Amino acid sequence: MNRSYWDRISKDYQHEVLSVYDNDLHGTVEEKIAAAALAYPEGRAADLGCGIGRFIPSLADTFNEVEACDYTRVGLKKAKSRCRSRRNVRFHQVDLVRDCVPFESVECALCVNVLIMPSLDKRMRAWRAVSNQVAAGGTLLLVVPSYESAQMEFFRAVESRGEKRRRDTKKRG
Ligand SMILES: C[S@@+](CC[C@H](N)C(=O)[O-])C[C@H]1O[C@@H](n2cnc3c(N)ncnc32)[C@H](O)[C@@H]1O
Repeated sequence: MNRSYWDRISKDYQHEVLSVYDNDLHGTVEEKIAAAALAYPEGRAADLGCGIGRFIPSLADTFNEVEACDYTRVGLKKAKSRCRSRRNVRFHQVDLVRDCVPFESVECALCVNVLIMPSLDKRMRAWRAVSNQVAAGGTLLLVVPSYESAQMEFFRAVESRGEKRRRDTKKRG
Protein backbone atom coordinates (compact mmCIF):
# COMPACT_ATOMS: atom_id res chain seq x y z
CA MET A 1 0.00 0.00 0.00
CA ASN A 2 2.31 2.71 -1.25
CA ARG A 3 1.85 5.75 -3.46
CA SER A 4 1.84 3.77 -6.72
CA TYR A 5 -0.75 1.40 -5.24
CA TRP A 6 -3.05 4.36 -4.53
CA ASP A 7 -2.28 5.93 -7.94
CA ARG A 8 -3.48 2.70 -9.54
CA ILE A 9 -6.55 2.40 -7.29
CA SER A 10 -7.47 6.06 -7.90
CA LYS A 11 -7.74 5.45 -11.65
CA ASP A 12 -10.83 3.32 -11.03
CA TYR A 13 -11.70 4.39 -7.48
CA GLN A 14 -15.46 3.69 -7.80
CA HIS A 15 -14.85 0.01 -8.50
CA GLU A 16 -11.78 -0.54 -6.38
CA VAL A 17 -12.79 1.04 -3.07
CA LEU A 18 -15.76 0.63 -0.78
CA SER A 19 -16.45 4.33 -0.63
CA VAL A 20 -17.50 5.72 2.75
CA TYR A 21 -19.12 8.63 0.93
CA ASP A 22 -21.41 6.32 -1.06
CA ASN A 23 -22.08 3.90 1.77
CA ASP A 24 -22.75 6.32 4.59
CA LEU A 25 -26.41 5.30 4.64
CA HIS A 26 -27.42 7.63 7.45
CA GLY A 27 -25.33 10.57 6.27
CA THR A 28 -23.36 10.52 9.51
CA VAL A 29 -20.21 12.12 8.11
CA GLU A 30 -22.16 14.92 6.39
CA GLU A 31 -24.06 15.49 9.63
CA LYS A 32 -20.82 15.80 11.61
CA ILE A 33 -19.35 18.17 9.02
CA ALA A 34 -22.46 20.37 9.27
CA ALA A 35 -22.30 20.33 13.09
CA ALA A 36 -18.61 21.29 13.06
CA ALA A 37 -19.30 24.12 10.59
CA LEU A 38 -21.96 25.49 12.96
CA ALA A 39 -19.57 25.27 15.89
CA TYR A 40 -16.82 27.24 14.05
CA PRO A 41 -18.57 29.81 11.81
CA GLU A 42 -15.27 31.39 10.71
CA GLY A 43 -13.46 28.07 10.71
CA ARG A 44 -11.23 26.36 8.20
CA ALA A 45 -11.40 22.70 7.31
CA ALA A 46 -9.01 20.11 5.90
CA ASP A 47 -9.51 16.80 4.16
CA LEU A 48 -6.42 14.77 5.01
CA GLY A 49 -6.07 11.96 2.47
CA CYS A 50 -8.84 13.39 0.29
CA GLY A 51 -8.46 10.78 -2.48
CA ILE A 52 -10.59 11.71 -5.47
CA GLY A 53 -12.25 14.40 -3.36
CA ARG A 54 -15.69 12.98 -2.60
CA PHE A 55 -16.10 14.91 0.66
CA ILE A 56 -14.52 18.18 -0.46
CA PRO A 57 -17.71 19.81 -1.85
CA SER A 58 -19.48 19.34 1.51
CA LEU A 59 -16.52 20.94 3.31
CA ALA A 60 -16.29 23.75 0.75
CA ASP A 61 -20.02 24.48 1.10
CA THR A 62 -19.86 24.81 4.87
CA PHE A 63 -16.39 26.21 5.66
CA ASN A 64 -14.69 29.41 4.53
CA GLU A 65 -11.52 27.69 3.42
CA VAL A 66 -10.60 24.10 2.77
CA GLU A 67 -7.17 22.51 2.52
CA ALA A 68 -7.18 19.15 0.75
CA CYS A 69 -4.19 16.84 0.63
CA ASP A 70 -3.22 13.39 -0.50
CA TYR A 71 -0.11 11.78 -1.91
CA THR A 72 -1.66 10.25 -5.01
CA ARG A 73 -1.20 12.44 -8.07
CA VAL A 74 -4.03 10.63 -9.87
CA GLY A 75 -6.45 11.11 -6.96
CA LEU A 76 -5.54 14.79 -6.57
CA LYS A 77 -6.06 15.43 -10.28
CA LYS A 78 -9.57 13.98 -10.05
CA ALA A 79 -10.27 15.89 -6.84
CA LYS A 80 -9.17 19.16 -8.48
CA SER A 81 -11.37 18.51 -11.48
CA ARG A 82 -14.37 17.73 -9.23
CA CYS A 83 -13.84 21.01 -7.37
CA ARG A 84 -12.78 23.25 -10.26
CA SER A 85 -15.62 25.70 -9.59
CA ARG A 86 -14.75 26.02 -5.89
CA ARG A 87 -12.62 29.04 -5.14
CA ASN A 88 -12.08 28.23 -1.47
CA VAL A 89 -10.22 24.92 -1.84
CA ARG A 90 -6.44 24.52 -1.99
CA PHE A 91 -4.77 21.24 -2.91
CA HIS A 92 -1.46 19.87 -1.69
CA GLN A 93 0.47 16.74 -2.56
CA VAL A 94 1.61 15.50 0.83
CA ASP A 95 2.82 12.20 2.19
CA LEU A 96 1.35 12.15 5.68
CA VAL A 97 3.95 9.62 6.82
CA ARG A 98 7.01 11.61 5.73
CA ASP A 99 6.26 15.22 4.87
CA CYS A 100 5.51 18.31 6.90
CA VAL A 101 1.93 19.35 6.22
CA PRO A 102 2.22 22.71 4.42
CA PHE A 103 -0.74 24.51 6.00
CA GLU A 104 -1.82 25.75 9.41
CA SER A 105 -3.93 23.60 11.71
CA VAL A 106 -7.67 23.85 11.12
CA GLU A 107 -10.86 23.88 13.18
CA CYS A 108 -12.25 20.80 11.43
CA ALA A 109 -10.06 18.02 10.07
CA LEU A 110 -11.59 15.13 8.17
CA CYS A 111 -9.64 11.92 7.65
CA VAL A 112 -11.57 9.05 6.10
CA ASN A 113 -10.09 5.57 5.75
CA VAL A 114 -6.54 6.84 5.39
CA LEU A 115 -4.93 5.38 8.53
CA ILE A 116 -5.07 1.87 7.14
CA MET A 117 -1.43 1.30 6.23
CA PRO A 118 -0.32 -2.16 7.40
CA SER A 119 2.87 -0.83 9.05
CA LEU A 120 2.17 0.29 12.61
CA ASP A 121 5.14 2.68 12.45
CA LYS A 122 3.79 4.39 9.32
CA ARG A 123 0.28 4.45 10.76
CA MET A 124 1.54 6.14 13.92
CA ARG A 125 3.48 8.75 11.94
CA ALA A 126 0.44 9.50 9.78
CA TRP A 127 -1.72 9.65 12.92
CA ARG A 128 0.66 12.23 14.41
CA ALA A 129 0.50 14.32 11.21
CA VAL A 130 -3.31 14.13 11.22
CA SER A 131 -3.80 14.94 14.89
CA ASN A 132 -1.29 17.83 14.67
CA GLN A 133 -3.47 19.47 12.01
CA VAL A 134 -6.35 20.00 14.43
CA ALA A 135 -6.33 23.43 16.06
CA ALA A 136 -6.75 23.59 19.85
CA GLY A 137 -10.44 23.05 20.63
CA GLY A 138 -11.08 21.88 17.06
CA THR A 139 -12.76 18.74 15.79
CA LEU A 140 -11.25 15.70 14.17
CA LEU A 141 -13.65 13.59 12.14
CA LEU A 142 -11.78 10.33 11.86
CA VAL A 143 -13.17 7.31 10.03
CA VAL A 144 -11.34 4.00 10.30
CA PRO A 145 -12.50 0.56 9.18
CA SER A 146 -14.54 -1.32 11.77
CA TYR A 147 -13.34 -4.57 13.31
CA GLU A 148 -16.14 -6.31 11.34
CA SER A 149 -14.80 -5.07 8.00
CA ALA A 150 -11.29 -6.22 8.91
CA GLN A 151 -12.77 -9.63 9.75
CA MET A 152 -14.71 -9.70 6.49
CA GLU A 153 -11.51 -8.94 4.53
CA PHE A 154 -9.80 -11.79 6.36
CA PHE A 155 -12.60 -14.27 5.61
CA ARG A 156 -12.67 -13.19 1.95
CA ALA A 157 -8.91 -13.79 1.68
CA VAL A 158 -9.30 -17.24 3.26
CA GLU A 159 -12.22 -18.04 0.93
CA SER A 160 -10.39 -16.98 -2.21
CA ARG A 161 -7.32 -18.98 -1.19
CA GLY A 162 -9.64 -22.01 -0.72
CA GLU A 163 -11.15 -21.38 -4.17
CA LYS A 164 -7.68 -21.22 -5.73
CA ARG A 165 -6.61 -24.44 -4.02
CA ARG A 166 -9.80 -26.20 -5.24
CA ARG A 167 -9.14 -24.96 -8.82
CA ASP A 168 -5.49 -26.08 -8.70
CA THR A 169 -6.45 -29.53 -7.34
CA LYS A 170 -9.11 -29.90 -10.07
CA LYS A 171 -6.56 -28.95 -12.78
CA ARG A 172 -4.07 -31.49 -11.48
CA GLY A 173 -6.97 -34.01 -11.79
C1 LIG B 1 -9.51 4.54 0.97
S1 LIG B 1 -8.87 6.02 0.25
C2 LIG B 1 -9.93 7.25 1.02
C3 LIG B 1 -9.99 8.54 0.25
C4 LIG B 1 -10.96 9.57 0.79
N1 LIG B 1 -10.63 9.94 2.15
C5 LIG B 1 -12.39 9.09 0.70
O1 LIG B 1 -12.98 8.76 1.72
O2 LIG B 1 -12.91 9.03 -0.44
C6 LIG B 1 -7.33 6.27 1.13
C7 LIG B 1 -6.58 7.50 0.68
O3 LIG B 1 -5.50 7.70 1.58
C8 LIG B 1 -4.41 8.18 0.83
N2 LIG B 1 -3.16 7.91 1.56
C9 LIG B 1 -2.71 6.71 1.98
N3 LIG B 1 -1.51 6.84 2.56
C10 LIG B 1 -1.19 8.17 2.50
C11 LIG B 1 -0.08 8.93 2.91
N4 LIG B 1 0.99 8.37 3.49
N5 LIG B 1 -0.08 10.27 2.69
C12 LIG B 1 -1.14 10.85 2.08
N6 LIG B 1 -2.24 10.17 1.66
C13 LIG B 1 -2.26 8.84 1.86
C14 LIG B 1 -4.50 7.40 -0.48
O4 LIG B 1 -3.75 8.01 -1.52
C15 LIG B 1 -6.00 7.38 -0.72
O5 LIG B 1 -6.41 8.47 -1.51
